[in-house]
Amino acid sequence: MATTSNALPELLEKLREKQALIGVVGLGYVGLPLCLTYAEQGYRVLGLDIDQAKTEAIEDGRSYIQHIEAGRVQQARTAGRLEASTDFSRAAEADALILCVPTPLNQYREPDLSFIRDTMTSLLPYLRPGQVLSLESTTYPGTTEEELRPLVERRGLVIGESFFLVYSPEREDPGNAHFNTATIPKVMGGSTAACTEVGVALYEQAISEVVPVSSTQAAEMTKLLENIHRAVNIGLMNELKPLADRMGIDLYEVIRAAATKPFGFVPYYPGPGLGGHCIPIDPFYLTWKAREFGMHTRFIELAGEINTAMPAYVVQKTADALNDVGKPLKGSRLLVLGVAYKKNVDDMRESPSVEVMELLRAKGADVQYSDPFFAAFPPMRSHAFDLTNTPLSAEVLASFDAVILATDHDAFDYDLIAAHSRLLIDTRGRFAPAARIVRA
Ligand SMILES: NC(=O)c1ccc[n+]([C@@H]2O[C@H](COP(=O)([O-])OP(=O)(O)OC[C@H]3O[C@@H](n4cnc5c(N)ncnc54)[C@H](O)[C@@H]3O)[C@@H](O)[C@H]2O)c1
Repeated sequence: MATTSNALPELLEKLREKQALIGVVGLGYVGLPLCLTYAEQGYRVLGLDIDQAKTEAIEDGRSYIQHIEAGRVQQARTAGRLEASTDFSRAAEADALILCVPTPLNQYREPDLSFIRDTMTSLLPYLRPGQVLSLESTTYPGTTEEELRPLVERRGLVIGESFFLVYSPEREDPGNAHFNTATIPKVMGGSTAACTEVGVALYEQAISEVVPVSSTQAAEMTKLLENIHRAVNIGLMNELKPLADRMGIDLYEVIRAAATKPFGFVPYYPGPGLGGHCIPIDPFYLTWKAREFGMHTRFIELAGEINTAMPAYVVQKTADALNDVGKPLKGSRLLVLGVAYKKNVDDMRESPSVEVMELLRAKGADVQYSDPFFAAFPPMRSHAFDLTNTPLSAEVLASFDAVILATDHDAFDYDLIAAHSRLLIDTRGRFAPAARIVRA
């Protein structure tokens, strides 16, 4: 075991020589690809999770995430570079511990750090000198110093001397064909200069570019800035959507035209609302922390207000379109296309499609869904639909009073949908405006 005095050079060498055992805690959308990235770069990796189904799947060489090929898990297993376990005492074996556990909002829309705290409680007895702990979960500035550091210090470990603490936000974009864990630059800030040095050594072998910043707080805030930037700009487009609609202007045409400007404009698109684990949630981590400093984050609040109103707008447009053909929402048969929160992923967290379905059902509509990524409507924390996937065909489409395109998966046959839907509500700008096609 490393002693206090030689902890830094020994750990640096292990990381640089790829002799370090990399522990990844939380094997979800972020943790699993991170395990594979390290294993593929020649490190040995130990994945830890409380969910035995995940650790068993990894041990069996299976993937439980649609866009991650089982072959990658099998290869890492065959090479003897990947193990997974629910036994947290094994954390003592790891030289690095990277935390990728959830950071949701609670029912009052305040940060819920319980997953981080529970993970730390499980890990604490097994922390030892000569380790680096990196938090990757999205969170408010100050979490690493205020929540993690005191826990580690209480164990008698000296940050920057015998133990190293960094924050490095995950920028995983599931389903992105152009970037993956290894090729997305990694922002990282350490608790001390020595921690930053260790953080660089931890990530530089596995990730194409490491971007060190001056503190853990700066790294935490960087992630929030990225997601706030998206939430606010999408909110702006969602504000312009009903206006453009009322003015008879095609907003998608306008955005595409504006995007031909080679500088100073970044295209964002409106939609049925915000979904996913990040964009609808992360900005409010900063809103919450800002109150401690007597500040209000008005752009964030306003974007949140506009974005969360979008499902109701889609429902209103659907009701209006049905009304035009002499039908009330109540009793109408409606098909929602796409329940994932964004296209080409098997992730429904915070999906606005589900909110749209809830609102339609509350109005008495008979709502079905079609999504090739979900054979059955999965159990969700606050939504329940006893439904299975409706495969698309000309007859099926024509049997519904209206079809609502909520998530524009590439797998959908858009010509078939356009040809056979009696009424088509398009929340993604996928179809050119036409008779029977309503933008919402
Ligand atoms: N999904 C993304 O695309 C994405 C992108 C960037 C950042 N993030 C952030 O990364 C973090 C993880 O997100 P995710 O999407 O991978 O979540 P996830 O829900 O897919 O995975 C989290 C994993 O942590 C495990 N877990 C929960 N409690 C635990 C505990 N006490 N000990 C050990 N494991 C535990 C769960 O079983 C699960 O396997 C979040 O903070 C999220 O905001 C996610």
